[in-house]
Amino acid sequence: MCGIIGYTGHAQAVPILLDGLRRMEYRGYDSAGIATLNDGGVELRKCAGRINNLAELIQKEPPKGVVGISHTRWATHGGVTDANAHPHLDRSGKLALCHNGVIENYQTLKDELVREGHLFLSQTDTEVLAHLIGKHYDQAGGPPSKGRLLAALQAALKQVVGTYGLVLLHQDLPDIVIGARRGSPLVLGVGRGENFLASDVGAIVSHTREAVYMNDFDIACIDRDQFEISSLLGGITGYEVSQVEFTEEDVSKGKFPHYMLKEIFEQPETVHDAMRGRLSLEEATAKLGGIDMTPKELREVERVVLCGCGTAFHAALVGEYLIETLAHLPAEVEFASEFRYRNMPMTKDTLVFVISQSGETADTLAALRESQRKGHRTLGVCNNVASTIARESDGGVYMHAGPEIGVAATKSFTSQVTILTLLALLLGRIRHQSTVEGIRIIEELEALPEKIKRILALNDQIKGIAEKYSNARGMMFMGRQFNYPVALEGALKMKEISYIHAEGYPSAELKHGVIALISPELPSIVIAPEDSVFDKNISNMQEVKAREGPVIAIGTEGCGQLERVADDVIYVPKCPDYLSPILTVIPLQLLAYHLAVKLGCDVDKPRNLAKSVTVE
Ligand code: G6P
Repeated sequence: MCGIIGYTGHAQAVPILLDGLRRMEYRGYDSAGIATLNDGGVELRKCAGRINNLAELIQKEPPKGVVGISHTRWATHGGVTDANAHPHLDRSGKLALCHNGVIENYQTLKDELVREGHLFLSQTDTEVLAHLIGKHYDQAGGPPSKGRLLAALQAALKQVVGTYGLVLLHQDLPDIVIGARRGSPLVLGVGRGENFLASDVGAIVSHTREAVYMNDFDIACIDRDQFEISSLLGGITGYEVSQVEFTEEDVSKGKFPHYMLKEIFEQPETVHDAMRGRLSLEEATAKLGGIDMTPKELREVERVVLCGCGTAFHAALVGEYLIETLAHLPAEVEFASEFRYRNMPMTKDTLVFVISQSGETADTLAALRESQRKGHRTLGVCNNVASTIARESDGGVYMHAGPEIGVAATKSFTSQVTILTLLALLLGRIRHQSTVEGIRIIEELEALPEKIKRILALNDQIKGIAEKYSNARGMMFMGRQFNYPVALEGALKMKEISYIHAEGYPSAELKHGVIALISPELPSIVIAPEDSVFDKNISNMQEVKAREGPVIAIGTEGCGQLERVADDVIYVPKCPDYLSPILTVIPLQLLAYHLAVKLGCDVDKPRNLAKSVTVE
């Protein structure tokens, strides 16, 4: 949700900033801009639209300079216009600012500034902050200095209610870029003769793999040779330089036309990586060191609450079935955005999990904090190891799925479900499950990557089915039990990237209302592997067929029954009920992908969406 990047060094800033923006375009892509310091002045280029629009604008009149900041936007305050694109300048035109987050009290601050004679060119909260910092700087007077600018920034940030990850530059100080964070991520990249600030380390990994992950209230000041981190709360702060785990290759598309397809095809490895080193055949259980709980503490857990947003919420729903089935523990799932305001009654033995690929989703972070405030041990399931949720939770489990860049989540879902299976196994083994049962679950888990490869081999068949149904104006997704959340996830994928309206339903609920929608124009995708509810699913399919609705079934290899009812069948390998979501979701990901490509949609950057939603 908005990506920012700042550079100071020996090279021309613009190509580095543009490349960084392109790598962060998943965070927002409705407008973009760049400001550099050149010959003592600020050069500004910005426009509505994708980064390619900005690149074209820049080509006409390239801004020069070895110090610069830039931004790719997901609009919150103010429409998608050139004027609302970042960077924003202060009243003097000497200070330029890029911001990710929301200044909640911006209207009050703006009213006061307007009374003082400030004129605003945009409707954004960010421009207000730029003016406020500039005002403090100008009022301080005296010779230009880093100290004066830092003091102005601190004074302004102390007046701000809200969240920010920001970078700024000032023409009085031609060598430096300043960054600050509260609630929105910011990482400092340590280079040789150059330094960086960015929302995501993926934006700078081609230049350096040494990073300092900044904390809330940190303020960083970088020049080409050094950097300094102080705290808004006072004094110089300690920091740790970490080695970035992934490489430039991990953040590129490789041989695939889209990140989404690459990430779908990575799932044999990512599911394996989610289990790697975490299964013990000897003890017939899972080992999740990161949750940092003794068997006695785990035995005392009476209830599990799982929270997340979007795809992570759907993974949590699968987790609910898994924990109930494998561990016989009550589990409840809540949207993070609801949990934070709901005041859910929770006994003291409730263990809370927040699930988030990015680890930065504002609602999930708020749910984490609310749960901790109430004294509950709150664990994270995150992919991004340096994320705020990963750092603030009381422990957790990393997904190790590598960067997920396609806005529609794919590999993160299967990794999350894999981890929740390990958790259910661990909780189950501590309670009622025998060694033999534990071993059987482990063997089934270990067989998953090969089975996923077999599904990926059906890519061409699935593409054909997607093309056959590409005229559909709407779609139904149905499943029962473990595959009900998969129906929701399949519908979400379809909506997100193809803009076809889709509904996910528990199959049997069809007859309680939505059956009214069934017609030859509305295809239904029914997830019906050979499980305990297979026959029920067949009956539900018959109900659709009786009303002339086309049916695409996802079934188990070797099951002849489906072909007699469904129009098209995609077969996945056999596996136990509780693992089926990890397999059945893959054809749905591919179906949504191919359909969106056929319709000419921008698969990796669907309209109106952002990968990491860092506002409420
Ligand atoms: C956004 C994305 C979704 C994602 C959700 C949660 O809405 O568009 O694809 O599932 O955020 O993201 P998280 O990073 O918390 O898993």
